[in-house]
Amino acid sequence: MRTAVFPGSFDPVTAGHMDLIVRSAGMFDKLVLSVLVNPGKNPLFSLEERVDMLKELTEGLCNVSVRSFTGLLADFAEKEQADVIVRGLRTPEDFAYELPLAQANRRLNQRADTVFLATAPEYSYISSSGVKEIYRFGGSVEGMVPDLVYQRLCEKRR
Ligand code: PNS
Repeated sequence: MRTAVFPGSFDPVTAGHMDLIVRSAGMFDKLVLSVLVNPGKNPLFSLEERVDMLKELTEGLCNVSVRSFTGLLADFAEKEQADVIVRGLRTPEDFAYELPLAQANRRLNQRADTVFLATAPEYSYISSSGVKEIYRFGGSVEGMVPDLVYQRLCEKRR
């Protein structure tokens, strides 16, 4: 059985994330969406909100589960007995950032290999931080995030 973890802050989940989640769910027997608990950051959505939204969004994907983690990703992957860590690449700059992380994670956990998936071109400009900035300045992020996230953002604004 091949288990993959897909880590991230998911603050919030974007349309690009969803595309990667659906595609990676088709590649592995088990996919664990792993939401980072980052006490240093001030997230737009609480950990509970992010986990709940991911659960709702992946209800139809029977091999996908959602968990939160704190500390090192390599340790979490070990705990989940993961063979693979999935990360999406939108740009060459993403690769430059991700490569040393993948190498460090490999050193810390020799069981798990990082697998990079190319983001679909129509989503390559979308990032959670970009979505948050547009939202904070009052712009519309419709279509950049799943409808559920869009609704939650609208509710937050009210
Ligand atoms: O969605 P993000 O914010 O780009 O995800 C980043 C994430 C969660 C993958 C990364 O910050 C991470 O792995 N954090 C856990 C701490 C850790 O393992 N750091 C060392 C990496 S070598």
